[in-house]
Amino acid sequence: MAKVQLTDLVLRDAHQSLLATRMTTADMLPICPQLDKVGYFALEAWGGATFDSCIRFLNEDPWERLRQLKKSLPNTKIMMLLRGQNLLGYRHYADDVVTKFVEAAAKNGVDVFRIFDAVNDPRNFKAATEAAKKTGKHVQAAISYATTPFHTIQSYVDLAKELAAEGADSLCIKDMAGLLKPYDAYELVKAIKKAVDLPIEIHSHSTTGMSVATLAKAAEAGAEIMDTVISSLAMGTSHSPTETMVEIFKGTPYDTGLDTNLLLEIAAYFRDVRKNYKKFESSFLGADTRILVSQVPGGMLSNLESQLKEQGASDKIDEVLKEIAVVQKDFGYPPLVTPTSQIVGTQAVFNVLFGRYNKLTGESMDLLVGKYGKCPAPKNPEVVKKALEALKMEKEITHRPADDIPNEFSKLEEETKKLLGTDKVAVEDVLTYAMFPKVAPDFFKKRDQGPVKFTAEPEAPKAATTAGAASAAGSQAAKYVVNVNGADYTVVVRPEGTMAIAPAGGAAPAQAASAAPAAAPSGGHVIEAPVAGTIIKYSVNEGSSVSVGQTVMIIESMKMELEIKATGSGSIHYLVSPGTQVAAHQPVAELK
Ligand code: CO
Repeated sequence: MAKVQLTDLVLRDAHQSLLATRMTTADMLPICPQLDKVGYFALEAWGGATFDSCIRFLNEDPWERLRQLKKSLPNTKIMMLLRGQNLLGYRHYADDVVTKFVEAAAKNGVDVFRIFDAVNDPRNFKAATEAAKKTGKHVQAAISYATTPFHTIQSYVDLAKELAAEGADSLCIKDMAGLLKPYDAYELVKAIKKAVDLPIEIHSHSTTGMSVATLAKAAEAGAEIMDTVISSLAMGTSHSPTETMVEIFKGTPYDTGLDTNLLLEIAAYFRDVRKNYKKFESSFLGADTRILVSQVPGGMLSNLESQLKEQGASDKIDEVLKEIAVVQKDFGYPPLVTPTSQIVGTQAVFNVLFGRYNKLTGESMDLLVGKYGKCPAPKNPEVVKKALEALKMEKEITHRPADDIPNEFSKLEEETKKLLGTDKVAVEDVLTYAMFPKVAPDFFKKRDQGPVKFTAEPEAPKAATTAGAASAAGSQAAKYVVNVNGADYTVVVRPEGTMAIAPAGGAAPAQAASAAPAAAPSGGHVIEAPVAGTIIKYSVNEGSSVSVGQTVMIIESMKMELEIKATGSGSIHYLVSPGTQVAAHQPVAELK
């Protein structure tokens, strides 16, 4: 039997899982000569949230990171994670942007494209797969693993066959929440191997504590490649330790042949580097087994807890967890991975707060009518009907969603030229802008200042995630940034001991006591914000006459867009402007 190969995720998923994706290129380059000697199948180093983090937090050009890594790793393949038609962004892109992105990534150093799609719709893999095939690079199609009544072994085998037919060079079973149990992994790999003649790589997070055993059983079943992370950045929400797997397989038919002493050198290096990122450390480093019952990934659970606090409904968590199962089923059993985890989670929160599907988010509607692609199972027709009516559509989209998006690269290129004030722009800059149009303009302005640097110098004491921190607050409100499973939250602890929590990076947390000042209503019929969030835009002009039920504003709450509807009739006077953070039940407009 063939030896097992390893892909080390230390340069991407490890710090995305444990250190809020903050590792800088400067902390990666010194160890590259050693990493390059190991003999990995690949090093995963790009994509996912690292691109976003580079321009948002590190003031680093992600393309420059890729070029430098490529230069420093001449003998090792660099793998990137690509979200199919979404690339690295949060929407479907036109095919010409997908092609340009893949070409640029290949040219700058990517050797293995790992492509996945949140709803496992093979049509969302297609454009990226074709473009990557044309570059001559390795294409790996990743199956997002979920455990729902619909996700039988046969459903995965069928998907594997479709992805193989699209031209994948290998397959990955992507278990983002640590749900893949060792003996299930054995059966699954056996079944796929029987149907499809492609190498299989296993990506299984350590979250639940099962991953080491899962990799061992998957190897027994014939999986050839395992994702691991050097020990000093392994376990918790990260992955199985590289050295541990090397030792487990040593002297067996799955022997990796890798040098443990060299790996220990690398582990020592990252043990030191990790100290630079202490303030970003995930609070959760052990085994979280709640998911095995709730089926809700750990990161999603912490997010939900924070979001419920923000909405002043912390006591509703158990109800929300039960509601998630209902929403996931009604929505056709999408795997809970970015962005579907957020869509399903937030809809479940709104169902509990406002009654089931009384308020559908914009993203829920899009998912229901097929704009994210085909969900694995049939959806609840009643809920689909609601979404169709709200979007004024006749029927669900059944074709490939990207077919509706006209080519857009040249338009994005013009916008980038305007942004940079030049008539010649690098294709990479256009793509950076295309991926993160809200963050890129600021990054382009600051890029020349060079990357930020983190050191191990003592930082301000790490805030506790409980009200215990209030004792340190003194007589003034104290503000902390707390990192929970990779996401930053600003926590304001007020003198009286109450807290407000909001995703970091925005303005003050939205709670009654700290909400932005707004014009006071002057006696008309008041429209309130149904939830805490940020006003995105007005749907009608100031002074227009509106009637009951008409959408008057869009609010972004818990990362999803929600319509605010008129609760009366009359001419509208807005009390808050777009960009304002508002509290739940805060007056946002009045009708006269
Ligand atoms: Co992962």
